[in-house]
Amino acid sequence: MLLAASTQRTIGLVILAIVFIGGVVYVLFNILAARDELGSETELAANRRPYVDDEELEGKTLDLALGSSLVLLTIVAISLPLYWLGEPGRHEGRIVDSHRIFADRGGELYNGGAQCVNCHGADGAGGSVNTVITTEAGEFVAQVNWKAPALNTVLSRFTEDEVLHTLNFGRNGVMPAWGAPGGGPLTEQQLQEIVFFLRRIQIDEETIQDQVSAGVRSGVEDLLLDESNEEWAVAVRDAEEAKSATAHEVRLAGRDDFDFSCTDNDADVCVADSDAGAALLAAQGAAQAPLSVAVDEWLDEAVAARELAWEMALEADSTLDDPGNEQVWRSAAVQLLSVPGGVPGQERFQRYGEVLFTNQAAAGTYSCARCHTFGWSYDATSELTIEDNGHDGPLLDAYAQGGGFFGPSLLNGNTLDQFETAGSHAAFIGDGQTIGVTYGRGGAGGNGQMPGFGANTESNPIGPGFTNDSEFTYPALLTEEQIDAIVAFERNL
Ligand code: HEC
Ligand code: HEC
Repeated sequence: MLLAASTQRTIGLVILAIVFIGGVVYVLFNILAARDELGSETELAANRRPYVDDEELEGKTLDLALGSSLVLLTIVAISLPLYWLGEPGRHEGRIVDSHRIFADRGGELYNGGAQCVNCHGADGAGGSVNTVITTEAGEFVAQVNWKAPALNTVLSRFTEDEVLHTLNFGRNGVMPAWGAPGGGPLTEQQLQEIVFFLRRIQIDEETIQDQVSAGVRSGVEDLLLDESNEEWAVAVRDAEEAKSATAHEVRLAGRDDFDFSCTDNDADVCVADSDAGAALLAAQGAAQAPLSVAVDEWLDEAVAARELAWEMALEADSTLDDPGNEQVWRSAAVQLLSVPGGVPGQERFQRYGEVLFTNQAAAGTYSCARCHTFGWSYDATSELTIEDNGHDGPLLDAYAQGGGFFGPSLLNGNTLDQFETAGSHAAFIGDGQTIGVTYGRGGAGGNGQMPGFGANTESNPIGPGFTNDSEFTYPALLTEEQIDAIVAFERNL
């Protein structure tokens, strides 16, 4: 576009130069060739010089005059359409420029004025906010770190209007209200500018999938270290227990090897260099290689169950592989994976769904638990946050996974009631809830706050790269396979 604009400019300058030089030559020529005006008298007055005679006037001089006007006319005739042709480009360039300026201003608000960066991280990569939990009566309960989701994928989850809704009203008291409707300090124009900035920082599909997969792997690792009966897993658990017992003992006895300068005030961390700490590190080191292999196998098995389900569905209904039936086939397969005893290995697939439901990657951005599980956003079951707060134990003994928080409870077959088929359930998770649009059997048309985890096509005049796209598709956050796993998990809650 810029190149095009400068080509236009070059052509314009060349034409201008030609017209200018032509003009100068014309004037000079006229001055040089100037003669006095011919009077009406036949006899020339003594003070007048004779002008060229008719012969010459109708010949060379007239040709020259007509010729030069033809040239000038041609120049005008060519340059006007040329200018006109360049107009859309100039127009577009102007829009792109102004969008870039908006995005720059939005960036200043993000990093400066509104301090989004403090909670959501540099370039919207995700972060956390240190905040206080109180009872409904306003009494102090604990100080916690609340996950602030990544915003570099937010336009895949929400339409721009839905993002503006959150910006206007905030959420759960931890995300402040920024717009006037929610009593916040920013103008509508400023919120728009922030959205322009968000367009600029969205990341691509590959990076998203890398993040999701890394989170899944680490979730499966935790699960295997907790549950596996393999020697390496047992060794890590034993070493953890020993370390924590040592830490406790050291702390109670006030022994020398407890580091009192340790600001974390956590015995477990403060004796990290003890023998027990070193033993744990060794056990973890030894577990690394077999753990990685075990994670691969675990995931392969999960995916295999889905493939089997597709085959079994086809066996039951041979029309499923007819052209155009792919989503019906998919729905039938997920249905099988969701009903108890439907497919061998389906429990593994459902647990894969649970790992995705609680994916920690990018400050929990890709998870469902951050909105559907009470306390998950601030690690309410962890010991660490608690010791800082003088609690005897965790804020929660265990999560009621999917029990509802900002989003509704998914327990007790709720999703079976809401979505008749596994396919419509999966479609809802892919699309999310759209402002004012009802869903399922009784889903109200809310404010679009249930994100869509599939791709989102937004009809921006200008996409994130500021190209002239009338539509732009932001990549999916979860693959169909991943969404299916979550569906199979949720339909058994
Ligand atoms: C004090 C910390 C804080 C600041 C400052 C802040 N946010 Fe948030 N924001 C949060 C938290 C925490 C959440 C998640 C709330 C929850 O879990 O219910 C959130 C949620 C959001 C969401 C919803 C995203 C999703 O996927 O659910 C958007 C959009 C958002 N913030 C944008 C912004 C923008 C833009 C700014 C700057 C104008 C900003 N936030 C400033 C803490 C903050
Ligand atoms: C940003 C918060 C948020 C996240 C993250 C989120 N949800 Fe939701 N979800 C909601 C809200 C809010 C609703 C209710 C929508 C409404 O009523 O308009 C909802 C509704 C639902 C429903 C319909 C429940 C019913 O009975 O009506 C399902 C199913 C669901 N979410 C699944 C998921 C899954 C699966 C994920 C993760 C892949 C997820 N949600 C992530 C906020 C969230």
